[in-house]
Amino acid sequence: MFEGKVVLTGVKPTGTPHLGNYLGAIKPAIQLGAKAVAEGGKHYMFIADYHAINAEKDPLVLNQKLKEIACIYLAFGLDATKSVFFRQSDIPEVHEFTTILYAYTPKGFMNKAHAYKAAVDKNREANKPDDDGINMGLYTYPVLMASDILLYDSSLVPVGKDQVQHVEIARDIAGAINAWYHEPILRLPDAHIEENVAVVPGVDGRKMSKSYGNVIPVFATDAEIKKAIFSIKTDSRAPDEPKDPEEVLVYQIFKAIATPDAVAEMATGLREGKMGYGQAKNMLLDAVLKEVSPFREKYAYYMAHFDEVEAMLQKGAETARPVAKQTLNRLKNIVFGK
Ligand code: TRP
Repeated sequence: MFEGKVVLTGVKPTGTPHLGNYLGAIKPAIQLGAKAVAEGGKHYMFIADYHAINAEKDPLVLNQKLKEIACIYLAFGLDATKSVFFRQSDIPEVHEFTTILYAYTPKGFMNKAHAYKAAVDKNREANKPDDDGINMGLYTYPVLMASDILLYDSSLVPVGKDQVQHVEIARDIAGAINAWYHEPILRLPDAHIEENVAVVPGVDGRKMSKSYGNVIPVFATDAEIKKAIFSIKTDSRAPDEPKDPEEVLVYQIFKAIATPDAVAEMATGLREGKMGYGQAKNMLLDAVLKEVSPFREKYAYYMAHFDEVEAMLQKGAETARPVAKQTLNRLKNIVFGK
C-alpha cells in the first residue's frame, strides 16, 4: 500500500506530552511512518524549528523545547535508522523554495488560514486591533509548511483536523504551479487523518488539553501521574451500585490505553457493582505506568545524551538535503527557464 509513497510528519516543539498527545498523535504518527518504511515507502520526520520562532523568542526556552521534542519522538520509538529524522533549519533550501512559492500563492489563502484567523479572533475578543501581535511568520506560515511538504515529494501528511486546511493549501499551491507550466513538477500531497485514533478525555471529562489543565502527564514521576489519575472526576455512587461503564470517566480513559481483556474486566466490574472508583483508578494507574515506564527511561537517557540525538539529526539532514536540493532545482529550472 505504501510502495513508492512518501509519508511526512512535521512537529512543532510544544513541550512535554500528555497521554492524549501520545495516544492521539505521536503513537499513530510513528506507527504510520514505520508501516510506510516496512512496505517500501519512505518516512520523513522533522522538527519544525523555523515555525517555532514565530511564537517563542527566548533562545533558552526554544532550545530546551527542541531538545525535548527530539527526545520525545525517539523515546516513543521513532527509529532514526529507518525514518529520515531531521531539523527543518538544517535544510536551508526550504527558504529558497518558499520564496518561489510566494509568487504563486494568492494572498487570500493566508487571510483564510485557520492559525491566522484564530489569532485575529482572539484579538477581537480582547478588543485589540486585528493584527495585534501577529508577525509575518505566523501570517505566511502555510507557505513555509507547503515547502516542508512539497520539497520531499510527500504523498501523505498525517495531521490532526486543525492542520488539514494547511495541507490543502500546499496541494493548491503545487496544483497552481503544475497548471501554470502544464507539467507535473510537484507532487500533490494528501492529508492523512487517522480515523481510529483514541480521543482521550481529560480528568474533568473535557478533551485532554494542556490549556484546560486536565492532563495525565507521561514524562512525570509515579507520584505525579498518580495524583492526576486520582483527580479524575467521579460521582458519589457507592462501589456496590451498578454503573453504566460508558458514563464512568475513569473507564473512558482506561479504554484508550488498556488491553481489551482488562477493559472488559473493568466494564463488568462496574456494571455488576463489583468495582468502586478507587479500584478502577488503581487499574488505570497500573495500565498507564506499564505503558509509559519504558518511555520515561528512554527519554531520560536521550536527554542526558543529546550528542547522540544530535548525530542522528545530522545524519537525517544529510539524507534529506540532497532530496530537497533536487526538488528545488527542478522547480528553479522550470521557473527560470533553464
Ligand atoms: N503546522 C504544524 C503544526 O502546527 C507543524 C508543521 C510544520 C507541519 N510543517 C509541517 C506538519 C509540514 C506537517 C507537515 O502542528
